[in-house]
Amino acid sequence: MEREDLAWLHKWQNDADIMRLARSFPDHIISKEAIGAEFEKELKGEDNGRRVFIIEEKSSGKPVGWATLRTRGYTRRMTDADVGLALGEKRAWNKGYGTETVRLLLKEVFEQLNLHRAGWWTFAGNTASLKLAAKMGFKEEGRLRDATFFDNRFQDIVVLGLLRDEYKPARGE
Ligand SMILES: CC(C)(COP(=O)(O)OP(=O)(O)OC[C@H]1O[C@@H](n2cnc3c(N)ncnc32)[C@H](O)[C@@H]1OP(=O)(O)O)[C@@H](O)C(=O)NCCC(=O)NCCS
Repeated sequence: MEREDLAWLHKWQNDADIMRLARSFPDHIISKEAIGAEFEKELKGEDNGRRVFIIEEKSSGKPVGWATLRTRGYTRRMTDADVGLALGEKRAWNKGYGTETVRLLLKEVFEQLNLHRAGWWTFAGNTASLKLAAKMGFKEEGRLRDATFFDNRFQDIVVLGLLRDEYKPARGE
């Protein structure tokens, strides 16, 4: 991610349709200044716990979304990372970009960072996200019942995980 990408994040993170799916929270209005403050550490290379990537479309060279890796450890030893991604440009959906992005994130988690578990969460109604997670081998680990509220109702949060010995690197790599 570079500083000029903040304008894209500002656009996508003020889009209720995107944020409903990306963060299970549609009313996510955020100013340019707040976005800048949130990502300042990453831009300066000071945050080792979270990595933020911009997803670019190869054919047009244009940014179409963002992805994050957030490492976590319950002890001092780092064991797992949450993966997250959102294609902020809706025209980029359903073209395989999500699959390709998750493949790269998992490669980083298991082949570079040598972690044991990748985590994923979303709300129960996010069909595309759950389909993509299942396709990449993630298994449902639990449901936080009524853990989020939007669109005038409580909704479950689904927590999924992929363990190291369940990870299958893409063929030919
Ligand atoms: C979820 C998301 C990243 C998926 O990326 P994508 O590039 O559209 O997905 P892909 O084209 O790689 O498809 C992955 C699989 O999901 C399926 N899929 C994609 N969109 C779908 C939809 N709306 N409904 C049902 N299945 C869907 C595809 O058919 C494919 O499965 P297949 O290979 O077995 O056919 C993308 O839709 C997105 O950014 N959504 C908004 C933000 C979000 O929900 N982020 C995830 C938060 S956890």
